[in-house]
Amino acid sequence: MSVSRIVFTPLNYVGWGSLEQLIPEVERFSPKKILVVTDPVLEKIGLVQRVIRPLTEQGYDVYVYSDVVPEPPLEIGEKLVSFTRQGRFDMVIGVGGGSAMDLAKLAAVLAVHEGPAADYLNLTGTKKVHKKGLPKILIPTTSGTGSEVTNISVLSLDTTKDVVTHDYLLADVAIVDPELTVSVPPRVTAATGIDALTHAVEAYVSVNASPTTDGLALQAIRLIARSLRKAVENGNDKQARIDMSNGSYLAGLAFFNAGVAGVHALAYPLGGQFHIPHGESNAVLLPYVMGYIRKSCAKRMADILNALGGNSSYLSEEEASYRCVEELERIVRDVGIPRTLGGFHIPETALERLTQDAVKQKRLLARSPLPLLEDDIRAIYRAAFDGVVAEPR
Ligand SMILES: [Fe+2]
Repeated sequence: MSVSRIVFTPLNYVGWGSLEQLIPEVERFSPKKILVVTDPVLEKIGLVQRVIRPLTEQGYDVYVYSDVVPEPPLEIGEKLVSFTRQGRFDMVIGVGGGSAMDLAKLAAVLAVHEGPAADYLNLTGTKKVHKKGLPKILIPTTSGTGSEVTNISVLSLDTTKDVVTHDYLLADVAIVDPELTVSVPPRVTAATGIDALTHAVEAYVSVNASPTTDGLALQAIRLIARSLRKAVENGNDKQARIDMSNGSYLAGLAFFNAGVAGVHALAYPLGGQFHIPHGESNAVLLPYVMGYIRKSCAKRMADILNALGGNSSYLSEEEASYRCVEELERIVRDVGIPRTLGGFHIPETALERLTQDAVKQKRLLARSPLPLLEDDIRAIYRAAFDGVVAEPR
């Protein structure tokens, strides 16, 4: 009998208007000096003011840190950690997409540790996180990363990515308000939405999946499948934004507990070497990874097909898994993301270095229902380059 370790964020507010819970929640921690980590675009369009204004009106001393870039390099994390230590803050609020929230978690925890952030990296670090750090509230402004409910901070290295991870990185409070996602442009809505879909799909087929994560993942897939195209087409579609927000949140809870696998492992080097946004890296690889592994988890792929709105009733599991891959391909195409590596101007000569970097993502690859070794990874990148789904030999 297997035992699943299930961890959730202590407190989450989810729904249209949930940002109203911010002040009562901040009050619980009685902070004097608050650091808000956000990205410069949100500062420019004024969205972050919706968080800052109520705080300053209540008399809190608020400092905004917006030296945040997508797929943040380790150096950005190091700078923010030093800044947080020197500033003697007593609360951190992360507002934005995955990058801002990941950095906020890192800063809140490492503010009470010593040494550079590099020492705490999963693959190459030598130190372990051992203190909880400052209280932190996370407020996503996209529907995708799930960072508000996970214990991971992802950082870009020279050619790939690594993470700092510990349950102390979990938010004390997550506030998931779909109203904040209305102004997200279509391409970002598409990329972050496919990221969320990938979280749910990979969690559902993960070797660590459990009945708890299965329920979360399948409901996430249903919500995302029925709303992502609408949210991309019309950002003001309130119901679509609500569904995407709930779908992304559920997918976050699912993958935090069951893990993501091959798609993310192969996507990281695309982000690291070619600076392709995380969601788009996942999107271009999703059909090729799932097409490659589908026979190892055909029953589960049939379930996913049904959650995507298809019907597996009259199909064998093998046929349903094939249809599932087709349906995933269709969603990626419909939301306008390139379907091949060539669509991102990645040359054929890059495939070997991508393979060598992806092989290192052992933490992620270990969750794949089909073990993915170097030759398998090379074949999947080749398939994504050629635009033809491949299967194991
Ligand atoms: Fe992701």
